[in-house]
Amino acid sequence: MSDKPRIFLTRELPPQTMDMLRERAVLTMNHEDRYLSKQEIIQGVQGVDGLLCLLTDSIDDDILAANPGLKVVANFAVGFNNIDVAAATARKIPVTNTPGVLTETTADMAFALLLDIARRVAEGDRFVRTRAWQGWGPLQFLGADVSHSTLGLIGLGRIGKAMIPRAHGFSMRVLYWNRTRLTPEEENELQVTYCELDELLQQSDFVSLHVAQNDETRHLLGAREFTLMKPQALLVNTARGPIVDEKALVVALQNGEIAGAGLDVYEQEPALEPELYEMDNVVVAPHLGSGTIGTRTKMGNMAAENCLAACLGQRPPNLVNPQIYD
Ligand code: GLV
Repeated sequence: MSDKPRIFLTRELPPQTMDMLRERAVLTMNHEDRYLSKQEIIQGVQGVDGLLCLLTDSIDDDILAANPGLKVVANFAVGFNNIDVAAATARKIPVTNTPGVLTETTADMAFALLLDIARRVAEGDRFVRTRAWQGWGPLQFLGADVSHSTLGLIGLGRIGKAMIPRAHGFSMRVLYWNRTRLTPEEENELQVTYCELDELLQQSDFVSLHVAQNDETRHLLGAREFTLMKPQALLVNTARGPIVDEKALVVALQNGEIAGAGLDVYEQEPALEPELYEMDNVVVAPHLGSGTIGTRTKMGNMAAENCLAACLGQRPPNLVNPQIYD
């Protein structure tokens, strides 16, 4: 029998990562381009050392219990809300993620959505394709200025911070709200102003979400928060769907409490609140935040390295539950 670690992979990853896994592990995997059911994952983890999974796989204690020899759950994502980390920690199973490598790519996506909703690019594209366009008009598809507007960043971790130079490139004023406030020196260096959440919502022309999903951030933006926002404000969400109460967002858009939204993530992916499919002031992307060839390759390699290390009994580099080694 091979002494290489045995890894179960829930979906095909970029080619470089696949080569690495095939070379360094005994790999079993889902070869189909679809999600696996919980039962299929339970089957898949039988007898393996490591589970390499995706943000679309819900890894709960039943899955962890299905293989008492499991040595790691390695997520192909920076977010890990799909994994019951407390259950893994109780079982002393390391959980890993892929931080850092997708920061710039995800901030680019947030900015792409911001520019798109401000300047109505997707809406104009749909219009042109109907062949109804009769030529340039002084009042056609007028949008909102990005330059010199105010951006409110909710969450100032790696991706939130990466939004700052992008915003400054458009001469935007940048406000932020974060669990922990920066020091005055850091604020000065980054040229950002701290606000309480309500105040940020009241002052911003664009609000972009960059917090992790957890019990505290679920429905951070709901009916009350939308009433605080400017009627011309635009919301960008590239973080996680459940941070926004999607039903309340629909109502806020219908009532003109805010002007539009650029969304990459949803509460019940891949389903959206039905009204969102029809709204012209909403840009909807299919969870593409980290979706470049280079970044997905880096994420794959990082997740594979994490998985392989833990399978071999080493401490994996990107642990989210370091307390298991205490
Ligand atoms: C993507 O959504 C990620 O968390 O990496």
